[in-house]
Order: sequence, then structure tokens, then C-alpha cells
Amino acid sequence: MTSTRSSTSCKLIARLRVLPRDRSRVPTVIPLIDGQRFQPMFFHLNWMFVLLVYFASPALGDGKVSFSAQVAPLLQSQCVACHGDDVAEADYRLDTYERLMLLADGSPAVIREQAGDSKLFQVLVHEDEDLRMPSESDSLPVASINLMRRWITEGAGFDGESKDQSLSELLPLKTHPQAPEIYPARIPLSAMAFNPAGDQLLISGYHEITVWNLEGELLQRIGDQGERTYSIDLHPTLPLVLSASGRPGVSGELRLFDLSTGSLKSVLVATDEVIMDARFSPDGKTIAVAMPDGSTQLISTETGSVTGRLLGHSDQVTSLAWHADGIRLATTSRDHTAKVFDCQSGASVATFTGHTKAVNDIVFLNNDQALSVSNDGTAQLWNVRDGKRIREVLRGKTPVLTLALAPDKYAVGGSMATQWFKRDGNQPIKRFDEPKHWTTISVFDAPGSTFVIGTQAGDVVIRKNETSVTQFEAIPGN
Ligand code: HEC
Repeated sequence: MTSTRSSTSCKLIARLRVLPRDRSRVPTVIPLIDGQRFQPMFFHLNWMFVLLVYFASPALGDGKVSFSAQVAPLLQSQCVACHGDDVAEADYRLDTYERLMLLADGSPAVIREQAGDSKLFQVLVHEDEDLRMPSESDSLPVASINLMRRWITEGAGFDGESKDQSLSELLPLKTHPQAPEIYPARIPLSAMAFNPAGDQLLISGYHEITVWNLEGELLQRIGDQGERTYSIDLHPTLPLVLSASGRPGVSGELRLFDLSTGSLKSVLVATDEVIMDARFSPDGKTIAVAMPDGSTQLISTETGSVTGRLLGHSDQVTSLAWHADGIRLATTSRDHTAKVFDCQSGASVATFTGHTKAVNDIVFLNNDQALSVSNDGTAQLWNVRDGKRIREVLRGKTPVLTLALAPDKYAVGGSMATQWFKRDGNQPIKRFDEPKHWTTISVFDAPGSTFVIGTQAGDVVIRKNETSVTQFEAIPGN
């Protein structure tokens, strides 16, 4: 992990009133929710908005199940890591329509119109946990199981171009609605990254990433994102922007964009829940993806295919950090733990169990130490060799949401004041009490001389050399 990596903490609730062109299709109140981290405070609001959207959404599920748009993304995200090119458990591959129809022994995996007799369906609802798929995970959500049942019952049809196309090629290149020219309300900032030159900021918007200079001028708008962007990462050498976006409870996507033109290059993952973080490895060859099902996928940047799956968390993965060695990867989860994996063997090499609530962000401070922050209000320093706590660096009453790393220091932010600590020794060095709103995201530039925070209310505060302070709202039109 380099020092310029943004962290993707923060999922807050806020309302954004959009001015829909077609009121019959677009809900008038769109929640920018991820209540998961702040449920206690906003729980009721949260449900209200969820319901509103549910009723206002255009009817889903009219007509037949689409293999390309619905079945392929499900199988791609849940099954292909163990039944694909690299790994094919039970010699069964599900990475093309043609292959997934046949088992290794030549018998059909799918009997058209008869879900109950189809092996592909039986394994989803198997009573024996060892035989139920996806293996080593919870069973699929009921909606996904029903989707598979419907698809088979309706004849298990194919609606792509060619039956030997890989599922990843079939993933719908969904075009997202255009971002409003002028935002009618503020939105919480959930992702931020410096451009390679360090003179521009890429910031999460509404169905877009906005690009600003450090004076607060809007320079570029990279559209075609899911509703909210949870993570932005730049390739270490190529002009590529990786974004994880989506809408809680509905969809999540990992997309790759060209930084210079802002055009979409590929959709790497599409799933039914938001993806909260995705990071290029230090050499840029691998992308680690924090999956909502608790797994972490490793994807080849070049081919887009899944090369590994790291298992062990029992709930959504919330953030990731690569070790400088390019082999170890730290992960945090809503399951209250943080882990370190060896990406070559796929093994979990350390688990930190010292937090009591969802863990939001993590950084490697040096070869052997990681620091993680949590909704439990603490920042904990621990040894990545054995998972043992070294010490508690900070304890407060409110969630700690974001970490940023510079060569000599790190910043801890959340609903409390942002604080800087020495990277070596962890002594506090500075404390910033403004602004009024929760700090939801923070980032240092590569040298560590410019420090930027984003807030729940859309404010950006830039500190250069600890003296000059610039502030703007990353809200187009404001
Ligand atoms: C973590 C790895 C893993 C994942 C993920 C996974 N599988 Fe499996 N799958 C296995 C293993 C291992 C077996 C062999 C089980 C056995 O027979 O003991 C298997 C067997 C199967 C079989 C039986 C093949 C046969 O010839 O009998 C089917 C069908 C299957 N999986 C479908 C799926 C589907 C559909 C998904 C996604 C929803 C999925 N698998 C996800 C590991 C996995």
C-alpha cells in the first residue's frame, strides 16, 4: 500500500433529492445509505428510505429471468472462483453457459424447466452443509436461490451472443443514469484519491466521480458509476481508475476507467450488494476486491479473471490494504475482526479479534504492525505475525471511520477530531477540531505534505504543509 492510497471508510446516511426527468420511474427521494455502520443512530430513517425506494422502484422481475443480466453476475461472483479456469472443483466449470450445463461425468447439470431435478439448483439448497454451494460460505440469499429456480423453470435460456463466451464478458454493461448537472443537496463523501501528479483530487459523487484541483475548481466528471462510489484507487503506473460503486441492498460493481478520457474500460465484478473497497497491488498486476459475502477476490488486472479467493470473514469486507511486499493483504470486516492473508497461498495468516464492533479501515504501519479502526471508537495497533494486540492507540465514544498514511505519520478520523500520530512510535502529533461534520474519508499525497479530509456534509478541507488551509464543497453547482 502506498501512502497516497485513499481509504474508503464511511458509509453514512443522507438524503439527496434529485429532480427526476421521468417521475414515474425514478424515486423522488433517493437514500444515500449505508446504514450498516451507523445503524443505531439512523436505523429508523434508514428503513423509511429503504421502503420508499422499494415502492417507488420500477417493478423488477417483470418478464423472464435474463441469463446475461441476472444469472451470469450471480454465478460469476459466487461460484466461478472455485469452478473456473484456475480452479475447477469437482472438475466442474461454470464460467461459460456451455460448460455450466454439463457436469464432469457428462450428465446434465440443468434439466430444463425442472429446477428440483437439476444438480445446479440442488446444490444451492442442499441440507448437508458440506455439499451446499457456495462451499465454505453461507447459503445464497433467498432472492438469489429463487432467481436460479425461476431461470431453470423458465427453460434455462441463453440470451448472450455465444454460449462459449465467458460469464465475465456477459456481465451487463449497465449504463448508469447521468449525474445531475447541479446537485440539489449535499452528499457525504465516501471515497477520495489523489491523481498521480498530486495536484488533483478524485472524489465520490452521485453516479459519478468528480475531479477537482486543490483550489476547489471542478475539472472533470467521470460518469457511469453506480449510485454511490465507495472506493477509488489509481493504478500505480497506468492511467487507470478503479471504482467500487453501488446501491446498498441492490447492486455493487467494480469498474475500470481510463483516467485521461474518463471512459469506461471494463466492468470487473457485478454483484447484488455494494463493494466497499478494491485496491491495486503495489505492482498493479492484481486487484483485491472486498466482497459483500465476506470473501476477498483477487482479479488479474490484465485479463479480468478471478485468480484467487480469500475466505475467513463471516460478514461483509469493508476495507483492504496491501502490504508493501505485494504478498500480504490486510482486510477488515463487519464481523468485528481484521485479518492478514498471504495472497500466494490464500491462507489467513493472522486474525485480530480485539474490536467489539464493525472494523472500518486498516493500514500497515511497518513490516510487522497494522493499525485498524472501528465503530467501537478505538484505533488498535497489532502484530500482523500473530494477530496479538500491541496497544490501543485511541479510544473514544464514537465510530472511527478513516485512516490515511504518510511516510512519517498517519491520520485517524471520524466523528471526533482528526488526529495525527507518528508512524514510528505512535505518539500523537496534532489534532484538528474543525470541521463540524464527521470526517468520513481522508488521504495524504505521496510525500505526506498535503492532507485532505472529506466530510459527511460534502466538505473538503485541504491542509498544505500544516499551515495553509483551503476548504470547498465537492458538490457540483455549490
Ligand atoms: C469455495 C469453493 C467453492 C465455491 C465458491 C463453489 N463451489 Fe461448488 N463445489 C466445490 C467443491 C469442493 C465441490 C465438490 C463437493 C463434493 O462433492 O464434496 C463442489 C461441487 C459442486 C457441484 C457438484 C458437481 C458434481 O459433479 O457433482 C456443483 C453443481 C457446484 N459445486 C455448483 C456450485 C455453484 C452453483 C456455486 C455458486 C453458487 C458453487 N458451486 C460455488 C467448491 C466450491
